[in-house]
Amino acid sequence: MAAGSGRHRPYNILEASMRIHRGIGLLTATLLLPLVSSAAADAKRGEKLYTGRCGACHSIADNGAGPRHRGLFGCKAGTQAGFNYSDALRKSGIVWDDQTLDRWLADPNKMVPGNSMAVQLASDPTDRADLIAWLRAATTGEGSCQRAGSAGQGQSAAHR
Ligand code: HEC
Repeated sequence: MAAGSGRHRPYNILEASMRIHRGIGLLTATLLLPLVSSAAADAKRGEKLYTGRCGACHSIADNGAGPRHRGLFGCKAGTQAGFNYSDALRKSGIVWDDQTLDRWLADPNKMVPGNSMAVQLASDPTDRADLIAWLRAATTGEGSCQRAGSAGQGQSAAHR
């Protein structure tokens, strides 16, 4: 049992270095795991993008330089209460969902010429997917906008 304790054979340096290598391999695998699991749209990353790129003008709860985003999905564009929109956006007939948000964020001017957001802040499709995933998660629930299918403008109540 005690045999060999305190004694090292000359080749042990090789064995030790292999042990270290195995250790590093395990460590690397542990560190990489969270990266691998975030291949799909990443709402957490989207939240950071939102804060960094949109937060100067927008928040979920309150109007600022840009309209609040409360209840965004299913809102008719340009209808958050109390925000002074451009005529172009108010009259656009857009309803916000994955596709319309993707087009808007890719290039607001192309989608709605004459709008007053006019900044192209997410030309990367991955950034847009992550932003939209975050917006979807953060804006569900009641809104302060006109919903698609509500009073007046076309859009029969296709969804409930
Ligand atoms: C420089 C200020 C500014 C920044 C930065 C900005 N926006 Fe806007 N945003 C606006 C303004 C102003 C409007 C209203 C446009 C209009 O009335 O034509 C708007 C409108 C919108 C709308 C339509 C909302 C509605 O009620 O119909 C969405 C969605 C939106 N922005 C998302 C974003 C996202 C996501 C980002 C970040 C990638 C962003 N915006 C960055 C100023 C900004």
